[in-house]
Amino acid sequence: MPDKYAIIKEFSKRYGSEPEHLFFCPGRINIIGEHIDYNGGKVMPCAISMGTFLAVSKNTAKRIRFQCLNFPEVAELHLQESYSKAGNQWFNYPLGVIHEFIQNNYPISGLDLLYYGNLPIGAGLSSSASIEVLTAFALSEMFAVDLTKKEIALLSKKVENEFIGVNCGIMDQFAVAFGKKNNAILLDCETLDPEYIPLELGDYILAIINTKKERSLVGSKYNDRFFECGTALKQLKKNLSITTLCDLDLKSFIRNQSLIQDPVIRKRTEHVISENERVKLAAESFKSGDIVSFGKLMYESHRSLKELYEVSCTELNTIIDFCKTFAGCIGARMTGAGFGGCAIALIRNENFDEFEAKISNYYTEKIGYNPEVYKTEIGDGVREISMD
Ligand code: GLA
Repeated sequence: MPDKYAIIKEFSKRYGSEPEHLFFCPGRINIIGEHIDYNGGKVMPCAISMGTFLAVSKNTAKRIRFQCLNFPEVAELHLQESYSKAGNQWFNYPLGVIHEFIQNNYPISGLDLLYYGNLPIGAGLSSSASIEVLTAFALSEMFAVDLTKKEIALLSKKVENEFIGVNCGIMDQFAVAFGKKNNAILLDCETLDPEYIPLELGDYILAIINTKKERSLVGSKYNDRFFECGTALKQLKKNLSITTLCDLDLKSFIRNQSLIQDPVIRKRTEHVISENERVKLAAESFKSGDIVSFGKLMYESHRSLKELYEVSCTELNTIIDFCKTFAGCIGARMTGAGFGGCAIALIRNENFDEFEAKISNYYTEKIGYNPEVYKTEIGDGVREISMD
């Protein structure tokens, strides 16, 4: 894995001199609160130590040059008034951010950019939010636009929604911008007020298990779920004065569920409302140091995502099934959008090696190839890093 010195060296090789700046933006896991952000409730993500680096300099050639150590494709574009998405190229994400800067009349010049990510790409750890927020933060710093982190997160979400075409909520962009070492962010997605919750896990750690199932959210069922929730809200609003699905608690929903005609959409809504309640309970568990209760909430969250929201898959379910049989594990769930990607498991630190070996065997036997298992390190959000 290249370190920052290798990235600086590679930049010099490709662009002829050392970069002016080096920035880093993490990925994230979501501890709990899945498919809640676009329904106005609470989520609890945290930034992780893996993420994306950007080495960058201004150029006077009025060219935007994109290169990346992870992909062979490079691009060189004239500085122009607007851009549109180029197929499924990796550089669409930073290009969308540059487009948005230009639309807002923020200053910009030619740029030489070199990215490197050590996050597994498309694996539900927010590699796309990471590169968007990284680019927006870098441009804001380099051209003295002085955007706040909240503005950076919102601009990046707009890129994902409008330029890329995924109707995601604000969670990922917010988490990678606002991350804080050893803390989760309890975020109210309506007010966008974050509360930091220290993640004191005692003898436990969070393991990330990557299914390595390929998936893309563009054109996936993610957008279908977004529209199903919109339909549910419209039908409930006929009799209830609510602005988001998460304005309802579970009891009021059950009383009023007949307002939703389609049983599938009713199931989706039940997930959203019950998951939002689980987030509040999870925050309380952490505040009172009750890790065991939090573990139970993880299993319940997964069951709801699998049965009611139907965004899990055989690979993720295989991981959770194994976790339930492993003595050192007290909770596990898929994290992120689903349909593949990663699961997280709360396991005893001393059992990590055994867990890694056993889950790898079990998964490979059932699925046919190896998963990847990492220990989560909870880190800080987007930042400039020194080149020394
Ligand atoms: C993806 C989206 C987020 C969120 C999660 C599901 O990561 O980008 O906005 O909706 O899925 O919780």
